[in-house]
Amino acid sequence: MNIAVYPGSFDPVTNGHLDIIMRGAKVFDLLIVAVLNNSGKNPMFTVEERKQHLIEVTRNIGNVEVDSFNNLLVDYIQAKQARVIIRGLRAISDFEYELQMASINHKLSENIETFFMMTNPQYSYLSSSIVKEIAKYQAPVSDLVPKVIEDALRIKYAVK
Ligand code: PNS
Repeated sequence: MNIAVYPGSFDPVTNGHLDIIMRGAKVFDLLIVAVLNNSGKNPMFTVEERKQHLIEVTRNIGNVEVDSFNNLLVDYIQAKQARVIIRGLRAISDFEYELQMASINHKLSENIETFFMMTNPQYSYLSSSIVKEIAKYQAPVSDLVPKVIEDALRIKYAVK
């Protein structure tokens, strides 16, 4: 079985992420969306919340699994018997960081390859940080994130 892992913070998942998930799921037998469980990043949503969001937005895609990890990505991937890391590339500004990550992951485990997918141009400007910034000022984010995230952001900022 050809398994790929799409790792990330997903704080929160955006329409750009979802586009990569849907396209990636068409290419691999199983796509595991893996949320980094890293308390150091001070995320807005807990890992459980982010997983729940991802489960809801991928509910209709049969070959997608949602999981979290807190170890080295290459170790997690090997444990899942996968060989491919999927990452989305939005712009040249992403390239340097992604090249560094792909190179170190390949050095750590030469059996693992990173496959890059060009983000749909429609979402080239989109990031989780931008979404949070907009939502903070109560501006609409309905074109940028799934409905479940729009609602979750509204609740988060209402509570704050
Ligand atoms: O969505 P992000 O924050 O750009 O995702 C970054 C992520 C989770 C892919 C990266 O930080 C990661 O793989 N972390 C796990 C620790 C690790 O393996 N580090 C070495 C490669 S940088």
